[in-house]
Amino acid sequence: MRVLTGIQPSGALHIGNYFGAIKQMVDLQENSDLFIFIPNYHALTSLKNAPALKQNTLDAAINFMALGIDPSKSTLWVQSDVKEVLELYWILSGYTPMGLLERAHSYKDKVAKGIAANHSLFSYPVLMAADILLYDSDVIPVGKDQIQHVEIARDIAIKFNNDFGEIFTVPTFKVEEEVATVPGIDGAKMSKSYGNTIDIFCGEKELKKTIARVVTDSTPLEEPKDYTTCNVFALAKLFLKNDEVEALKERYTKGGEGYGHFKAYLNELIWNYFADAREKRAYFLDHPNEVIEILEAGACKARSIASEKMKIVRDLVGIYR
Ligand code: ADP
Ligand code: TRP
Repeated sequence: MRVLTGIQPSGALHIGNYFGAIKQMVDLQENSDLFIFIPNYHALTSLKNAPALKQNTLDAAINFMALGIDPSKSTLWVQSDVKEVLELYWILSGYTPMGLLERAHSYKDKVAKGIAANHSLFSYPVLMAADILLYDSDVIPVGKDQIQHVEIARDIAIKFNNDFGEIFTVPTFKVEEEVATVPGIDGAKMSKSYGNTIDIFCGEKELKKTIARVVTDSTPLEEPKDYTTCNVFALAKLFLKNDEVEALKERYTKGGEGYGHFKAYLNELIWNYFADAREKRAYFLDHPNEVIEILEAGACKARSIASEKMKIVRDLVGIYR
């Protein structure tokens, strides 16, 4: 079963990204044919700063590998290294009714937020369909906001297949329902856009400062505390085994410890959890050529599948060679 996903190169990763998305990918690569790429063409729609986009693209590859994406188990590449995707994007555009794109929530939301409506923003789902269909992907793990995009890819595949036979695998999406929303330091959903994140690869001092800002109530030190409403507890839980969660609950209900203690514990949990990832990341940052080689090997594998598919597609639609 081929599982394909694209994760935007959007700068510093936070623990919401890790528990909400990356960890699932790391687990998935154990028993599926995981294709994971960095959609830098898509990122162009929101980031118009060339040095930053280049940097973010390499950083994303480094971060994913540091966090456990293993290029010997999955195929990791940068979208723009396989140009066939743009050719397919154009061909699929001819099988994409305007109404399908006009109904896309993501486009409407972006425009409502004041982002200038341009063609790439509008046709974004067609490029995403090309990403998916080019590699005969079976399953696309996505966040809720991307479900409609996978449905558009399905519609386009079905339309094309109606004309030409079973050319494209019709993909299905998979939403991780069990994945809880990771709260930010203020208790709202952790998100870059809310400025409430705990970044995975920040320095030790910065982490301490961030944890100090986690919002708590003002129950005095000696009194029992309510772990069910505590942001520090909710965050710590992500890093703990069941018996450790129980032990922490007990510390809350017993009283005699202040939020300072629990924050120090949370700080230690986060710092230790990502120790190995920090080390790997430092290694890759020191060896950028190795990273580029890995991405090239991934692109080479992706390209060999893409070029076979495109021979068939070109022939069917009448591109002469
Ligand atoms: P942000 O909200 O910080 O911009 P993105 O939208 O780039 O994050 O999210 C990238 C991935 O991380 C998505 O798959 C999303 O579902 C996941 N993710 C982001 N924030 C959280 C969170 N607070 N809890 C769980 N998953 C999250
Ligand atoms: N649009 C996706 C997002 O913003 C990223 C993406 C691009 C993608 N192409 C894809 C995801 C193909 C899955 C499959 O998160």
